[in-house]
Amino acid sequence: MKKIKLLLAIFSLTATAYSQGNNYTQDYTKYKGLALTPPMGWNSWNKFACNVDENLIRQTADAMVSSGMKAAGYEYINIDDCWHGDRDSLGFIHPNPKRFPSGMKALADYVHSKGLKLGIYSDAGSKTCAGKPGSRGYEFQDALMYAKWGVDYLKYDWCNTESLKGEGAYKTIAAALKKAGRPMVLSICEWGTDRPWIWAPQVGELWRTTGDISNNIGSVMKILDLQKGLRQYAGPGHWNDPDMLEVGNGMATNEDRAHFAMWCMIAAPLIAGNDLRSMSAQTAAILKNKEVIAVDQDQMGVQGYQYAVKDSVETWLKPFQGGDWAVCFLNRGSKSQKIDFDWKKEVITDTLSKAVLNAQNQTYSLRNLETMKDIGTTKSPLKTEVPVHDVLMLRLHHKN
Ligand code: GLA
Repeated sequence: MKKIKLLLAIFSLTATAYSQGNNYTQDYTKYKGLALTPPMGWNSWNKFACNVDENLIRQTADAMVSSGMKAAGYEYINIDDCWHGDRDSLGFIHPNPKRFPSGMKALADYVHSKGLKLGIYSDAGSKTCAGKPGSRGYEFQDALMYAKWGVDYLKYDWCNTESLKGEGAYKTIAAALKKAGRPMVLSICEWGTDRPWIWAPQVGELWRTTGDISNNIGSVMKILDLQKGLRQYAGPGHWNDPDMLEVGNGMATNEDRAHFAMWCMIAAPLIAGNDLRSMSAQTAAILKNKEVIAVDQDQMGVQGYQYAVKDSVETWLKPFQGGDWAVCFLNRGSKSQKIDFDWKKEVITDTLSKAVLNAQNQTYSLRNLETMKDIGTTKSPLKTEVPVHDVLMLRLHHKN
């Protein structure tokens, strides 16, 4: 009798376990509905590298609001490498107590109280790129901790990933985030090594396509060139990431403007990388230009493309939802270049989105997005000049 009772008890326990679903199954897919337009925010790395602490993050959150960046659409405050302290005896990660004495939960609460979101950084390998504890083997514990703290965004790097493969490693952290139960944007940072554009759209919201950017126009243009052939992989909820912005970090104002404009043309995540607490009026004007940002943030989410190259001037196009177009002339050369563009000369069709720019049978108004001024229509050819390392960015608008 005792035996039968025991068997019944075991059976009912097993049945209960099964009826609750297998808790060992994993869901490797990302949260739905995040980053429907390219994410906008700030990240500590480009300016501060390992010099991060809670004061910097709090002050940056304050500056995000007081500078008008938040009103312009920037949302995430992302702490990059070097926030880490040690793992405890159970393997749970903690922030460096000297740099983050109030703890991450308090910091997240502060950032949230400003109407902003908090991002954090880890690495798929044993150590981060700066040699801090990586998440390999601790993925589910780390995700639990981030969720507990109230983190909203995870940038997940690719240093020290001995024998790992990109797709599998990023699926593990995606499953860990899912299991932890708090929606977090997953920023895949494996530098384009394993062709992430093929598999990452299901796993995360953005994926780096190249190595690291630096604050010179050569680096910015090199990265721009490397985006060739990738536009068909991007769209609402899944974006090519040509790396964070260097605007305000030392380039000339015209170069910063060109960098920002091109990142918007290619629907890049707009993650500022400068010191928001002390930015110049010129830097703020570039980063907060709402009409340029609107090019990046268009709901249709079609990455722009290079349409033509003549001398040192590249013509880039990006279709908007509703039939408008952004047109950007980028002068990469070392002298100012004249532009003579006859809108009526040809009907342009974007083979990806099928959008059509036809100035032969309709007239578009032209707006200079940098000066925010209307400058005529497509009835007559555009004749102007683009200075060295600068852009002329227009929005073509047509009324039906
Ligand atoms: C890598 C990443 C950078 C930055 C550093 C931090 O190089 O690509 O964006 O996160 O690591 O160590």
